[in-house]
Amino acid sequence: MDYSIALIPGDGIGPEVAAPAVKALDALGDKFGHVFHYAELLAGGRAIDETGVPLPPETLEAAGQCGALLLGAMGGPGWDALPGELRPERALLGLRKGLGVFVNLRPVALYPHLRSACPLKDEVLASSNPEGKAAFDFLIVRELTGGIYFGGRGRSEDGSSAWDTEMYSRTEIERVLCAAYAAAGTRRKKVCVVDKANVLESSRLWRETSAAVSARFPEIETSYLYVDNAAMQLIRAPGSFDVIVTSNMFGDILSDEASVLTGSIGLLPSASLAGVPRPGGEKGCPLMGIYEPIHGSAPDIAGKNIANPLGTILSAAMMLRYSFGLENEAAALEAAVDAVLEEGLRTEDIAVKNGGERIVGTKEMGEAVVRKLERS
Ligand code: IPM
Ligand code: MG
Repeated sequence: MDYSIALIPGDGIGPEVAAPAVKALDALGDKFGHVFHYAELLAGGRAIDETGVPLPPETLEAAGQCGALLLGAMGGPGWDALPGELRPERALLGLRKGLGVFVNLRPVALYPHLRSACPLKDEVLASSNPEGKAAFDFLIVRELTGGIYFGGRGRSEDGSSAWDTEMYSRTEIERVLCAAYAAAGTRRKKVCVVDKANVLESSRLWRETSAAVSARFPEIETSYLYVDNAAMQLIRAPGSFDVIVTSNMFGDILSDEASVLTGSIGLLPSASLAGVPRPGGEKGCPLMGIYEPIHGSAPDIAGKNIANPLGTILSAAMMLRYSFGLENEAAALEAAVDAVLEEGLRTEDIAVKNGGERIVGTKEMGEAVVRKLERS
């Protein structure tokens, strides 16, 4: 079958990590008999340089006509001095809002082969793992098109004070909770709602809404944590989590924190979806999604062929699963990544120099994944 993908390589390391993901998709296409068509679009810093705005209207329009959007990264120091509305990150927020992708899935699991890249001790990992293993596997479900990143903001006339607004409607909270419960249903059946309900009124609405939604999923265990405590429990007891559901800003912060547990932020994929995902994808009912690694544009390492492409490659696997309903293909891509790690190939960010590992560049890591796919 033919599938259309909007492709925004973006800025910094974005193009370097997007290229191997495209190669991996093409290798999968050859193997499984699919053709992926890419519409390369302009957004972020490059769009500012070439068109004067971070998100040209044609980009949003064209992306909306594709089945999914694969994205590298956006932003960089060259655009930092621009006013908020003209920064490259605006493009990302505009695409998320414009494509209505309100739920962001960020899986965080420890690859057994990367145990030594995780900074926690065995006993810390094992103490919270239900089976007593030095392992964790949880999913952060982040609300993506509401809250303080989209609320009213401004400055006083003399510029001496500024404000941003955290605002949520019951509907916005309810739909992201439904996605979290659906995900938990396919996992270990636990949802932890993270908020700051001891201080914030918007968080109290999250609690009220989750009390109502949780009643519809009696088979799922619901717990609550304040975000400050959650930040601590992620380090103290990562094995205790299954699905964490939270607001836009808390999810942004906690997912960066959680990524360190896996060894590197360069490994973490994400899927931002315009609906509630069903197991195995939505055959015959495609779900629009934006797929991107959770890391940023990392301008300090751009152009050096050292960035980790696995977060983007794994994001492409999520795209196959959620937007195209290609579960077998998604699993094949994930298995190829696993096999490459098992073989001891490491980009610099996940290398622990103990002799058994081979440090490779961005391109070589991508090529190794493609070779695994061809031979699997
Ligand atoms: C992320 C990023 C973005 C966000 C930035 C670049 C706007 O940090 O995807 O986590 O805050 O959502
Ligand atoms: Mg972030």
